[in-house]
Amino acid sequence: MLSSIWSDLEGHQQEMAGIHLRDLFQADLGRFSKFSIRLGDLLLDYSKQRVTAETLKKLEKLAEEANLSVHIEALFSGEAINRSEGRAALHTVLRDPTPEPFMLNDRDIKADVHRVLDKMETFVENCRTGKHLGASGERIQHVISLGIGGSELGPRMALEALRAYKSTDIKIHFISNVDGLSLASLLNELPPAETLCVINSKTFTTPETLQNARSVYAWLKKDLGEKLAFSHLVGVTANIAAAERFGILPDNIFEFWDFVGGRYSIWSSVGLPLAIAIGMGQFRAFLNGAHALDEHFRTAPFLENMPVLLGLLGIWDHNFWQCQTHAVIPYDDGLKKLPDYLQQLEMESNGKRVKQDGRVVNHQTAPVIWGGVGCNGQHAYMQLLHQGTQVIPVDFLLPAEGHADYPEQQQLLVASCLSQSKALMEGSLAESTLNANEPLAEAKQCLGNRPSNTLIYPKLTPAILGALIALYEHKVFVQGVLWEINSFDQWGVELGKKLVNKILPYLRDPNTISALDSSTEGLIQAIQKHQSKSLLT
Ligand code: F6P
Repeated sequence: MLSSIWSDLEGHQQEMAGIHLRDLFQADLGRFSKFSIRLGDLLLDYSKQRVTAETLKKLEKLAEEANLSVHIEALFSGEAINRSEGRAALHTVLRDPTPEPFMLNDRDIKADVHRVLDKMETFVENCRTGKHLGASGERIQHVISLGIGGSELGPRMALEALRAYKSTDIKIHFISNVDGLSLASLLNELPPAETLCVINSKTFTTPETLQNARSVYAWLKKDLGEKLAFSHLVGVTANIAAAERFGILPDNIFEFWDFVGGRYSIWSSVGLPLAIAIGMGQFRAFLNGAHALDEHFRTAPFLENMPVLLGLLGIWDHNFWQCQTHAVIPYDDGLKKLPDYLQQLEMESNGKRVKQDGRVVNHQTAPVIWGGVGCNGQHAYMQLLHQGTQVIPVDFLLPAEGHADYPEQQQLLVASCLSQSKALMEGSLAESTLNANEPLAEAKQCLGNRPSNTLIYPKLTPAILGALIALYEHKVFVQGVLWEINSFDQWGVELGKKLVNKILPYLRDPNTISALDSSTEGLIQAIQKHQSKSLLT
């Protein structure tokens, strides 16, 4: 990657290091209009990034040198860009409403996608209208959605974001971790006869999800009997055979496919709990919002291309200014789970050290993604972002309007978000009342020159949410291309899964513990001393 343009950008960063963002704004009163772009109802303001027109030109050359356009076309056309698994990454087809076939390995996969969407529609409407009844004739009032990672984070985040669009009395409950109290607390409250359990698992092998599925089935069986309990189970998976072996009835299986990565699967039947909550019409609006972003990403010139710009600006911050983390701070409670979602999307996609061609990278790849909602962050971690020793770029997300009639709250939310990005940019000197001789002058000073992007949208609707998620998906793709890594595999999670199966037997048979390392051995022994009854079974 250390090409001439990369070295050129390193030199350019040195030049920029001596310029304060305040100076850039003072030197050009029209800076905002030059460094912001609109896409439909979305506005991205990146004028508070440490960039000039020259910076953007150099970043554009970096994208051209990486043949980004060729890679974008390969993504959309279904090439096996996930080289280590020999797969395409076609989450874009999941939200493509057009009727034209999409052929992958001699099969029209778009027909499959639309078939499953139609099957979802029937099921969703039958649940919502009461046509689909439980085994003992009761209406479904509760849906337990079991799943972890991409099989939970997407639907859970989207349901939170679109709570204003929930249009059914059916309550959706998410269980992801193998925490007994979380499961017990939920099951103690729910009536089995009125409860459906959606087992969301692409592989249908994830231990946490299967353990929870077995427990929920046992809970259903106690009330409904062995056979009828299965009619309350729904499987969402790419492994139909495994779901059938578990006992899921074929009609209750909603498939998706290997060309969809788990962290890119919200658009598929993984979105079933969301569709039940908001209705299929709004779910399709959600898909359409993402599709509009796809069309933009596939066609817009790089410097008018929102995902490309976000991706390039992230590389500028992380690879040339050595920022190690990136904060996502929505000033919108509906997006409170967006940072969690983006942690998997960005860090599981681009947390890699080896390129697609097998060589070790010679540059940083994904930063740590973290965040939380504003205004709360102002009373938690913003101190560090204003006066800490490390510079942390921020994505602020801000709706012009909320979903409730509290204009004063909304005004304060807007004013707070804009104040934070302004303070990060210009620091306290601009408002300085500090007397340089004041002993605390240095301690009170905010240096500013801390970069941020601000994404503005009218209101958090299904279409806007779809567009925002697709925006980040394609930003991640852009960065993966420039880092020459595979954004669609996740070999790093396999080791942990293998070790779980290695350690579990030791929890049952302490005599074999000595085969472990002394830390694990010592920890197991300490844990077993505290356990009321040993895990020995
Ligand atoms: O975290 C590893 C991972 O494989 C994710 O990619 C995936 O979203 C999650 O586990 C759950 O996998 P599954 O949907 O197969 O249960």
